[in-house]
Amino acid sequence: MLQAKSVEQATEHFGQLVNAQLARIERIKKEADWIDYQALDQIVIGVLGGDGIGPAISHEAQRILEDLLSDQVSSGKVVFRTIDGLTIERRAEERAAIPAAVLEEIRECHVTLKGPTTTPEQGDAWPNIESANVAMRKELDLFANVRPVRVPAEGIDWTFFRENTEDLYAVGSQGVTIGDLAVDFKMITKPGSDRIIRAAFDFAKKNGKDRLTIVTKANVVKTTDGTFLDTAREVAKDYPGIEWEGWYIDIMTAKLVDPKRRRDFQVLALPNLYGDILTDEAAEFQGGVGTAGSANIGKRYAMFEAIHGSAPRMVREGRAQYADPSSMVRAGAMMLSHIGYRELGERLGKALDLCGQYEAKLKMTGRDTGATSRLFGDYILETVRAPDLESRWDAAVRAAAGG
Ligand code: IPM
Ligand code: MG
Repeated sequence: MLQAKSVEQATEHFGQLVNAQLARIERIKKEADWIDYQALDQIVIGVLGGDGIGPAISHEAQRILEDLLSDQVSSGKVVFRTIDGLTIERRAEERAAIPAAVLEEIRECHVTLKGPTTTPEQGDAWPNIESANVAMRKELDLFANVRPVRVPAEGIDWTFFRENTEDLYAVGSQGVTIGDLAVDFKMITKPGSDRIIRAAFDFAKKNGKDRLTIVTKANVVKTTDGTFLDTAREVAKDYPGIEWEGWYIDIMTAKLVDPKRRRDFQVLALPNLYGDILTDEAAEFQGGVGTAGSANIGKRYAMFEAIHGSAPRMVREGRAQYADPSSMVRAGAMMLSHIGYRELGERLGKALDLCGQYEAKLKMTGRDTGATSRLFGDYILETVRAPDLESRWDAAVRAAAGG
């Protein structure tokens, strides 16, 4: 953040931000195509525990993934690497969103599984460093934040494609104050919109979806959201089999809770901040943010994480061992599919549905009235290994749908 002493100083700062974004646009235009993980001799998976409840729930996710990938690990096709140091203490010490050594290690992996990390806010005890998530998304150009929400029994099957590197987040820690005026900058680029909207259309096409929803507030935020919507109009021409429509974020938020309408939505693409908000709301339908995983995908790297924070309150109150690992395991399931083990990813997703929504033999309450992370991890592992997983899942979904 800059506390400008004059309009000239603020203007100069703005000029620098604009130049940096223009240079970024050039980089986007030159970026290489999507990596094919299965074509690699070895896929390196980095695991970053994060802080707060992060290490405990990441540990459960890693344990389950290592079990599912045991053949690939034995043959050397897949390796897991633990990366330490992405904690609020280390970050505060180095005054860096991501310590340099940690970033270097991350770049040596193909994909990472990342536990939640504390994000300082203006006025709290930590130095006001940028969120590690936001920094990693920008550093590794993880432009697509893919967040699925499924409640099969209610016919809900949404996949959100949240743009992950632009909008109010692009330079979120570089706003300006001049006297009593505070200014943040919302930046949206055409190539940045193009690639996220295209990713959403491609996903729809590959997964037999015939409808795509673009969410903006282009009636008011005309320049940036307008660019996003205009780009959607262009991109849509390349996907004639898929119907698309534009919705405004306010009515979208309302219609997501309308039981008559909500099952019509399939794939949604939206700028960063609207995506942040709407995906928390959406996750509530499948049992809250603790159950939702999130994939941060770029053409070269990808990072998989929970959609919630590090729950410092749970740690302060000595309840960290009761944190629900489902979100991290769900992120792990997405990772499996992303790196080419789709069948395993789907099995793990179904096991999570059974453990969290349908059979729910153990309850997670976040305190000693419920199961521990470890016990719930065991439950997921036992469920995903069960030979009758598929038939149990089918039966549970049918029963929940009322027949
Ligand atoms: C998320 C989180 C982050 C975001 C925070 C922690 C910076 O809410 O991943 O949705 O706003 O993107
Ligand atoms: Mg969020």
